[in-house]
Amino acid sequence: MSRTIFVTTALPYANGSFHIGHIMEYIQADIWVRSMRMAGHTVHFVGADDAHGAPIMLKAEAEGISPQELVARYAAERPRYLDGFQIKFDHWHSTDSPENVELSQDIYKSLKAAGFISSRNVEQFYDPVKGMFLPDRYIKGECPTCHAKDQYGDSCESCGAVYAPTDLIEPYSTLTKAKPVLKSSEHFFFKLSDPRCVQFLQEWTTGTNRRGQKRLQSEVLAKTREWLGTSEDGAEANLNDWDISRDAPYFGIEIPDAPGKYFYVWLDAPVGYLASFKAYCNKQGLDFDALLDPNGDTEQVHFIGKDIVYFHALFWPAMLKFSGRKTPDGLHVHGFITVSGEKMSKSRGTGISPIRYLEIGMNPEWLRYYIAAKLNSHVEDIDFNPDDFVARVNSDLIGKYVNIASRAANFISKFFDGQLGYAGDVTALASDISAATEQVRADFEAREYGRAIRRLMAYADTVNQAFDAAQPWVLAKGITPDDERRVQLQDICSRALAGFKALTVMLTPVLPGLTDRVARELFEDESPYRWQDATTLPTRIQKFKHLMQRVEPAMLDELFEPPAPEVPTPGGEAIAEIIDFKDFAKVDLRIARIEACEAVEGSDKLLRLTLDAGEGRLRQVFSGIKSAYKPEDLVGKLTVLVANLAPRKMRFGVSEGMVLAASHADEASHPGIYILEPWPGAQPGMRVS
Ligand code: MSP
Ligand code: ZN
Repeated sequence: MSRTIFVTTALPYANGSFHIGHIMEYIQADIWVRSMRMAGHTVHFVGADDAHGAPIMLKAEAEGISPQELVARYAAERPRYLDGFQIKFDHWHSTDSPENVELSQDIYKSLKAAGFISSRNVEQFYDPVKGMFLPDRYIKGECPTCHAKDQYGDSCESCGAVYAPTDLIEPYSTLTKAKPVLKSSEHFFFKLSDPRCVQFLQEWTTGTNRRGQKRLQSEVLAKTREWLGTSEDGAEANLNDWDISRDAPYFGIEIPDAPGKYFYVWLDAPVGYLASFKAYCNKQGLDFDALLDPNGDTEQVHFIGKDIVYFHALFWPAMLKFSGRKTPDGLHVHGFITVSGEKMSKSRGTGISPIRYLEIGMNPEWLRYYIAAKLNSHVEDIDFNPDDFVARVNSDLIGKYVNIASRAANFISKFFDGQLGYAGDVTALASDISAATEQVRADFEAREYGRAIRRLMAYADTVNQAFDAAQPWVLAKGITPDDERRVQLQDICSRALAGFKALTVMLTPVLPGLTDRVARELFEDESPYRWQDATTLPTRIQKFKHLMQRVEPAMLDELFEPPAPEVPTPGGEAIAEIIDFKDFAKVDLRIARIEACEAVEGSDKLLRLTLDAGEGRLRQVFSGIKSAYKPEDLVGKLTVLVANLAPRKMRFGVSEGMVLAASHADEASHPGIYILEPWPGAQPGMRVS
């Protein structure tokens, strides 16, 4: 029976590039989607950027660009990663889209009409300088427990205490250093504690979907039981109503009939799954409403990481249910990927850079294979270990799988002109293949990829052993055209190649590129293979072409090499990552004359410079050189201006560029700032290169 399945992965925040954790999630989902399609099911697989929220708004502001521009910049680089790792979404969208505005507002209105929205005033910290309410992560202060300084608004990194931002001693806004004030504002809540909601979630989390399958993995169910309790009436439930509104300024979707109020990003983010699917349906002429009919047959499955279960196992199904929509049929939750046992940290820049992986020419299918070999259906972390990576790819993928074809195909081409031939009965061969393929198919469906890989490698072992035991190279020695050993030789090689073809089918979800080449070039079959193709024994082959390079361990050294040298140059800061001339040429450096210069009132660091860079107009640039220069000493001097730097809004006005100055990384031991000045003869407007 053919199924229709709507599959998503979590929507990545659009304020950063993909990291290896994202790529791992997409590879997991992509393998599943491909394996389901191989069974003849219809799968719609969509993703999108999660564009809204305060961090994105503030980051854009700091760069002097609009949030839309920031989001567009990351959206533009997504295809390099996705195409690079052969991750094939049917559609990629954004939560900052008309479809999402409409759907989010619709869902909200339905929830409100059904009595699931309440409102009340909430007192929160407000930055009076910035003029905005502060999310907890933008408030710091002294820990009320251990008195460590500069601790975040929700917990202390020093002693582990958990508290409210209002508990901090001498709190300050990390945006402006201003002391936050308490301010009251109306907030809207989704009534998760409503008995209807608790009852529905009890049923949804513990029950089964339309195919009689559990919706949640056992460990995810255990988590939801902690939140929901086990009693029918929700007496033990430990659920708070969910604050779904934020005050302007906020980059998000406006709440209907509530001027100045926006949906909290986590409300419209999962709705982005639907928005992406809707945009895709419109493009493809598919009927979105029919496909997501609450009583229809489409299965809706979300791949997510373990950190966002609360949103997906409670809020999201409840939002869908009580706005009269289809609820999810399954959450596929994975653990985190670590690198050599270390947690990735964006700030420390550890982990593997997926783009660097591609840039140094490592084969994306090695990573797909390695990740597949490590994954199972549980919420377990997996580790990327470089030695293990080299061993698995080289000894399993190449040593076992590719090896079969390279050995058997040569005999067939050389002695039989590509023609395969089986001596005697092949029913046992076909049924062996059929049994192995069926088990592997079921493993993929159950997301037991590691088991699938172990199984198919065990099958590769049997194929290799049979081939070795028959010693075809002995048979082939001095063989003549009418030699009766020819039948035997052809049979041995044909059986090996039938096994190889079956393995190719089994690896199709994991290695789409390689298996596509094998199907089309070696067997001249249609690609991609379907599961049932495994048992059709091949009858001829084309000449074997080289399939896959081994991993050179040196590549892993290159992959892990820190982008910037760690050894400091004598007496100073380490030299930054190498760039090519193209990168350097992007920076437009110009000679500028300082026409006027004055101290900035209210700032102990800044001078305001008025510069002539030969453009027929003057520019205002702020520079943190007040400690080193008297304004009057600079007037009339020439210096170097970064002329194409994005203008930056600062507290005192817009800065239109930057002047160059030298300073030591260790300011305390080597104080001083030295502004650059060209040799005599340079004129304003000249380019520095
Ligand atoms: N924007 C939210 C999700 C909204 S879904 C409606 C978000 N974004 S995220 O960019 O932080 O994370 C996206 C996905 O990457 C999540 O599923 C998260 O669990 C996953 N991963 C983040 N780090 C990871 C690893 N180290 N390993 C594996 N997956 C990880 O959360
Ligand atoms: Zn503390």
